[in-house]
Amino acid sequence: MAQERQNALGEDSLQPRPEHKFTFGLWTVGNTGSDPFGTSTRARIDPNESVRRLAALGAYGVCFHDDDLVPPGSSLPQRDEVVRRFRATLEETGIVVSMATTNLFGHPVFKDGAFTSNDRKVRRYALAKTMRAIDLGAELGAPVYVFWGGREGVEAMASKPVGDALDRMREAMNFLSAYIVDRGYNMRCALEPKPNEPRGDAFLPTVGHALGFISTLDKPDMFGVNPEFAHETMSGLSFYHAVSQALWQGKLFHIDLNGQKIGRYDQDLRFGSEGIKDDFFLVKLLEESGYSGARHFDAHAYRNENPEGVWDFAAGCMRTYLALKEKAHRFAADKEIQAALEAASVPELAKPTVGKYSAAAAAELQSTAGDPAVLADRGYYNERLDQLVMDLLMGLR
Ligand code: GCO
Ligand code: MN
Ligand code: MN
Repeated sequence: MAQERQNALGEDSLQPRPEHKFTFGLWTVGNTGSDPFGTSTRARIDPNESVRRLAALGAYGVCFHDDDLVPPGSSLPQRDEVVRRFRATLEETGIVVSMATTNLFGHPVFKDGAFTSNDRKVRRYALAKTMRAIDLGAELGAPVYVFWGGREGVEAMASKPVGDALDRMREAMNFLSAYIVDRGYNMRCALEPKPNEPRGDAFLPTVGHALGFISTLDKPDMFGVNPEFAHETMSGLSFYHAVSQALWQGKLFHIDLNGQKIGRYDQDLRFGSEGIKDDFFLVKLLEESGYSGARHFDAHAYRNENPEGVWDFAAGCMRTYLALKEKAHRFAADKEIQAALEAASVPELAKPTVGKYSAAAAAELQSTAGDPAVLADRGYYNERLDQLVMDLLMGLR
């Protein structure tokens, strides 16, 4: 078994290494287990300790909200000292900062929203806080800046015309992307959709909404998406499809991997613990698409874990990803699976149907379009194909 798990270089294929680009948020391994019904069950972990533990497990990077790293209310010298120590830990461990973001949801000032609060003064405060957080991210080398609109949404429908809120969201994105360019930062922006929680209805609820919104921005090329498994699943949508379309549009700038049951609150479970088939196709997609960004786990350990369980959780996320990557290699090498793909006409979907329009092509099409009764006769052998996938995932082949 151990033998089988060795790659061409003789390395254990389930051992995470920095080149796999696994990353964790400081808030993920640092999650203390508090929820709306109860307080923390674990102590806060010092960010430097998290970085050391993640490095020991084979991770590549970390990311953070401004407040995860620099405690709110810190003076400028205190902030600089935190950054100095953190930078030293990064250098010592080789861990990189893979993404940065702003906490625009924790403080009561954001209770009506941040960039879309009805109070213009709150919106201006949110922009100023984000500019400082962008500076912090740039200082530590973050290549991606994520915007998750935690409090951007509504319960009372009458309280926020959605078009006005989207205008304010667009104004914020245009202002902040211009700030990034003005400061000369080498940073791209990724919007993270979520349908609800903590707000009753969130603005930009799905990957599709976000992709549509991006096309209206001043600098659309600077913006992509940061889809999250849990969030699309909460909407009842296929995460695999969302990521596929984001890649197809060249807009997958970052990704939040975790586990989620459909129709629940945002569970942020260990990657792979729910939806293993979706995860298989997702990992296969990421690995085969040439996606070179972070494989970020936005999840946390169960509330009943003690501090050691946190590292079991982190190791488990990476192990499952690598195991599914192995399965993707087997899928590609399995002759019976390849024959089943052929029988299902999968390669044919990649062939153009008719090509560009011309009057001649249209006439040719009309004269050669087949008989539907004959075309309807064939089978697509999807049952056989899907069972082969199941057999592969269950370790039966
Ligand atoms: C959530 C979100 C957040 C964001 C994070 C980074 O549902 O709480 O997924 O964890 O990913 O704030 O933007
Ligand atoms: Mn989430
Ligand atoms: Mn997330």
